[in-house]
Amino acid sequence: MFSVVFSCFITVACISYTICGRVIDFEAIGGIAGDDRLSTCRKNTHLLNQTVNSLQTNDTIVFPSNRTFWLIGGIYARRLAHVTFQIDGVLKFSDNFLQWPRDSRTHLVLDCFYFEQLDHVTFTSANTENQKGIIDGSGNRWWGIVEYLVIRGDRPRLLVIYNSTNLLVENILLKNSPKWTFYGKDVANLEIRHTDVDARRHPAVQWHDLDELTAFNTDGFDISGTNVWIHDCNIWNDDDCIAVKQQDSRSIHSTCSENMLFERINASGVGLSIGSVGASVAHSCVRNITFRDCTMYNTFKGIYLKSRPGDEGHTGEISNILYENIQIYNASQWAIWFGPQQAAFKGACSLLWPFVPEMPCPIPSGITWNNITLRNITLYDPQISPGVIVGNTSNPMKNILFDNVVVKNPGSHPWGDKYYACSNVEGIAQGDTQPVPPCFKHYK
Ligand SMILES: *[C@@H]1O[C@H](CO)[C@@H](O)[C@H](O)[C@H]1NC(C)=O
Ligand SMILES: *[C@@H]1O[C@H](CO)[C@@H](O)[C@H](O)[C@H]1NC(C)=O
Ligand SMILES: *[C@@H]1O[C@H](CO)[C@@H](O)[C@H](O)[C@H]1NC(C)=O
Ligand SMILES: *[C@@H]1O[C@H](CO)[C@@H](O)[C@H](O)[C@H]1NC(C)=O
Ligand SMILES: *[C@@H]1O[C@H](CO)[C@@H](O)[C@H](O)[C@H]1NC(C)=O
Ligand SMILES: *[C@@H]1O[C@H](CO)[C@@H](O)[C@H](O)[C@H]1NC(C)=O
Ligand SMILES: *[C@@H]1O[C@H](CO)[C@@H](O)[C@H](O)[C@H]1NC(C)=O
Ligand SMILES: *[C@@H]1O[C@H](CO)[C@@H](O)[C@H](O)[C@H]1NC(C)=O
Ligand SMILES: *[C@@H]1O[C@H](CO)[C@@H](O)[C@H](O)[C@H]1NC(C)=O
Ligand SMILES: *[C@@H]1O[C@H](CO)[C@@H](O)[C@H](O)[C@H]1NC(C)=O
Repeated sequence: MFSVVFSCFITVACISYTICGRVIDFEAIGGIAGDDRLSTCRKNTHLLNQTVNSLQTNDTIVFPSNRTFWLIGGIYARRLAHVTFQIDGVLKFSDNFLQWPRDSRTHLVLDCFYFEQLDHVTFTSANTENQKGIIDGSGNRWWGIVEYLVIRGDRPRLLVIYNSTNLLVENILLKNSPKWTFYGKDVANLEIRHTDVDARRHPAVQWHDLDELTAFNTDGFDISGTNVWIHDCNIWNDDDCIAVKQQDSRSIHSTCSENMLFERINASGVGLSIGSVGASVAHSCVRNITFRDCTMYNTFKGIYLKSRPGDEGHTGEISNILYENIQIYNASQWAIWFGPQQAAFKGACSLLWPFVPEMPCPIPSGITWNNITLRNITLYDPQISPGVIVGNTSNPMKNILFDNVVVKNPGSHPWGDKYYACSNVEGIAQGDTQPVPPCFKHYK
């Protein structure tokens, strides 16, 4: 590989004299580092947006290390092909939510980055383990109870990639997103590696207490699509760490979200999740998903599979799911949950269920659960009873297998010596599974 400098600022990277692409240094073309004034955020954003929209095949845009480029939301591009974002320094978004750009039609805030129809696009960093490239959403100003009551969900997501193929994200820290961190929506062939999510209210916090949990909706990796591999990542946030979502009905790639592998992930938040499955589209489905070799320290929820209540009449499917070799330490809420989504929206299973009497927790009947295995799972010191596994009477969960699901020192509230809420499930416990969910058959 050799490079030719053909102007002051733009280098051409070549692997042979016929295959060249430009290397565009964001600072060299006029990006201003280290200045967080709104006018600079806007200037940088405008320049970045223009530059991204002019990228050509095999171009690389580089954000140099030891530099922080302040931005504000609304960066949008589509149909980029064979381009690389090399983030060696820091891209940091303003927290000025009053001046945040809004969609002219809906008046809702624009996401920090929104891309669609990407193909062969890489987000990388030349920086190594301890100093990854950073995209920082300055979420702290957007989070909190008061903020939530005022602005609700009208907060930007950090990085959204829709209807795209052949994506690689590596060596990046995605920090303090105001809302969802990464949403790969209807994507095919996505790999994310050595990329961390960190959304926390206080730098030293180690548990998801009530204050920390007000970093609402800071989902880590939300994914729908097919052929996805996410591995060797650390996630700390206050919503789903990973959520495999159903595809959008308009997707061209597949009708199901499927064929995904998540491994060697250290996560703490509201779960390694499937779902919620069952909203908005007529038939939604998630199948052939594996999570393995993961650890969860002081997490709020652990293994969290959820159907979406409140859309009666919709059908869907959660099938061929495997969770294998996962250790969950000191979960403060449900370590294992198979059932309806717990959330604050109308029709959902109440967040207070079952701790406050009369709180609703309806179980949708339209979602079919089949062939879900938990193997070699250890829960250490879950603070409450280990779990909830609840199907609908008219459509029980089928082929649910717990193989070596071991709970050490479980909390006793609220299920006492039953350990799990367990109903309408055709389940089998085998290996050293202990305790056995009370509605499962047990084979030694
Ligand atoms: C881009 O690079 C690839 C190999 O990396 C090469 O096959 C292709 O021809 C290049 N395209 C252009 C337009 O330079
Ligand atoms: C970045 O800064 C660190 C510490 O100031 C220094 O050691 C390193 O060489 C710098 N890296 C670059 C690429 O300038
Ligand atoms: C970025 O460019 C796209 C495409 O030209 C445009 O629609 C969008 O409004 C631009 N955003 C900003 C913040 O300039
Ligand atoms: C998805 O992307 C393809 C091109 O890759 C395009 O033809 C199609 O219209 C897009 N679909 C939607 C719903 O945006
Ligand atoms: C299930 O997904 C994995 C990727 O995680 C893939 O290798 C495998 O082929 C898929 N199985 C089926 C039956 O499609
Ligand atoms: C895993 O996460 C916990 C906190 O959630 C952290 O203390 C620990 O260092 C992480 N482990 C690794 C290997 O990064
Ligand atoms: C159950 O799901 C696993 C993947 O988790 C798959 O390998 C297996 O073939 C499925 N079994 C049936 C009977 O479909
Ligand atoms: C478990 O988490 C709670 C907070 O939910 C914390 O107070 C306690 O110290 C933790 N225990 C251990 C052993 O880390
Ligand atoms: C599951 O645990 C058993 C017993 O400890 C062990 O023999 C087996 O190799 C483990 N399987 C995986 C996939 O880790
Ligand atoms: C199951 O679904 C039916 C029909 O939607 C509903 O009436 C019922 O309350 C649900 N709950 C349980 C526990 O089966």
